[in-house]
Parts: sequence; structure tokens; C-alpha cells
Amino acid sequence: MSLQAAMPPGPLGDSFAWQADAFHDYDSWALHVTPGDVAEIEAAATATKTGGLDIRKIDKVDFPLPGLAPRLRTLRRRVLDELGFGYIRGLPVERWDPDFRVRVYWGLSRHIGDPVPQNRNGHLIGHVIDIGTQVNEVNKRLTQTNLELSFHVDSCDVVGLLCCATSLSGGESAIVSGVAVHDEMMRTRPDLCAALYGPIPMDRRGEVPAGGNGWYEMPLFHWHRESFTGFAPVRQYVESVQRFPEAPKVTPLLAEALDVFYKLCSDPRFCLKIPFRPGDIQYLQNHVVFHGRTAYLDPPPPKPKRHLMRIWLSASDGRELPPALLAKWPAIASGARRGGAVIAADREWIVPLEPETPAYG
Ligand SMILES: [Fe+2]
Repeated sequence: MSLQAAMPPGPLGDSFAWQADAFHDYDSWALHVTPGDVAEIEAAATATKTGGLDIRKIDKVDFPLPGLAPRLRTLRRRVLDELGFGYIRGLPVERWDPDFRVRVYWGLSRHIGDPVPQNRNGHLIGHVIDIGTQVNEVNKRLTQTNLELSFHVDSCDVVGLLCCATSLSGGESAIVSGVAVHDEMMRTRPDLCAALYGPIPMDRRGEVPAGGNGWYEMPLFHWHRESFTGFAPVRQYVESVQRFPEAPKVTPLLAEALDVFYKLCSDPRFCLKIPFRPGDIQYLQNHVVFHGRTAYLDPPPPKPKRHLMRIWLSASDGRELPPALLAKWPAIASGARRGGAVIAADREWIVPLEPETPAYG
């Protein structure tokens, strides 16, 4: 079976094909929580704690937010049906202990989707922090370093990031409309756009399903049942896949297509830089919005290191997904929990509260 996907007849040009200019005034469109919202959120989180609820078991109904929920519903629609991204701003994270902070983050996120594991150890919350992973540790992901991360997607419908502490310098978070970049490539270099609808070898970075290879192939652009799906790999993972002698070589045409693609992702017309502050949550729909960050420097102790908390969410009422995604995702069907990482047979889902918990090993 060929992995070559069908293509749309022309540029898509829908609401997902936004450009950066319309959103620079971040404060004008983020969802700002009010003191009343915070009181409601803290009451809901306290009730889960006093009721002895395991964080993993907290469902949307266990985290009632009568005042805030309608605005969270609007944010969810914006993420899934309109723009592919949404932001909550102003949570007082600094006054919450690690357990309470995760309860709040989890409870809010339950209004957006269903958590799925994000690594082979079954972590439902991931800590994006520099724990000294080296770039040449090819079985690890680069989120545990302070290095630049190219534009990419995570393997779930919606990825959330809660900012707990910022860097001393750098570490700028940026997003881009994969649809706008696709449309620009289709208009200006249709030959290169077509190349990204073909298979691209990608490194699994050690997250190998039973019986599988250390690498897989996946197109970057998909067109399935009149619906677009983008799957941008971390660029370094297309480079490191060449450590597998049997992995297909990147052709000159594909290399040029990837060059143009990543260049357009960083083009100021398309790339929206986000001034992430402690207490902000970013939710992104991976199928249409790609994300990256610049390299950064942590402040010296005793100041806390840059620290983001990640959650991967399934939104099974979201767009229908192309079968090719099964090369990476354990499940893609609508109506059931989908996406996430394949976890090792001897592991169960866990919620690590502390950033030092190693994600791998
Ligand atoms: Fe990511």
C-alpha cells in the first residue's frame, strides 16, 4: 500500500488559514480569568481533593465551572473548528502547590478533551524543563533540553501547555497555521507542496511499538475525505532517522520541500510569537497548528527554571483523521479516545507532579 495521499484541488483558504498580523494583540483575544473564575476553579479543585479523587479519575462533571464553562466551550470551538488555538491567561499558579496546580490544570483541560499518555511510561502530565538531556541522546525527545525546537506537532488532537515559570532569556513559544503555510506552498511551489503529501522518514526517538521499527514514514500534509490534516515532524527527527541504515533516504526534492516548509513556518507573515507568562495555558489543535520554540537560558538558582506542563488531549468529536496516521497513533477513530503514545506493557497511566520525574528510561 502506498502512503501517498490525495491532494485538495487548490489552496484551502478557510478560517484555519490565518496569518500572524491578526493576532499580535494577544491580550485582546485571550480568555482572561476573573477573580470570580479563580474562586470557582479553586472551589472545584478543592472539592476533588477533599473528596479524595485520584487526579486520573477526575472527569468534566467532577470539575463544575458554572460561570466559566460557557467561555471554555467557546475556546474549545475556536481550537477545533475556527483557528486551531486558544489561550487562557491569568491563573495564579504561584500560589498553588504541585498537587493543586495539576488538579486545576487537569480539571480545566477536562472541559477541552480526554487526556492520553504522552510517552512510553504512561505520563498523562509532562514537564517541559531542561533536565540536561543532550542533543545526541537519540532515544530522547528534545523537550527536556534548552535547545531550539523546530515547528512540529504532538501526537494528539489537542496539546495543552501551562506556563509555571519562564526563562531568563529566549524560549519564545511560536505557533503557525499549517493550513496557511500549505496554501502558500501550493500557490508558489506546487511541486514542493506535492512532495510533502508523500512519505517522509521520521525517527521514533526510542518510542517503538512492539514489533515495530525505530522509524516510520508519514506524509506531512494529508487530504482525507475533504479534510486537511498536517503532521509536521521535529526537523531534527528527520535528520536523526538516517541513523537507521534501512530507513529511506531523503531525496533532494524532499529536502528542498522541507527547507521551504520550515522557512515559511518562521516567516513573520505566518509565525505568531507568543509572550508566554506564568499562569497562561495554550491549547493547540495539532492537525492545523504547528508549534516550536527558540533556544533559551534559565535564570541562575534559586530562581526556578523555565517550566511548562504539557497535557495531551483526545477530542474524538474533532475532524476525521487519515488512516496514514496509524503509523504513529495507536488509534484514530472518531467517537473514542484517540492519539497519544503507545505505553510499555508493564506501565500504567500516571500523573507525575514533580518536574524531575524522568520521562524516559
Ligand atoms: Fe511539542
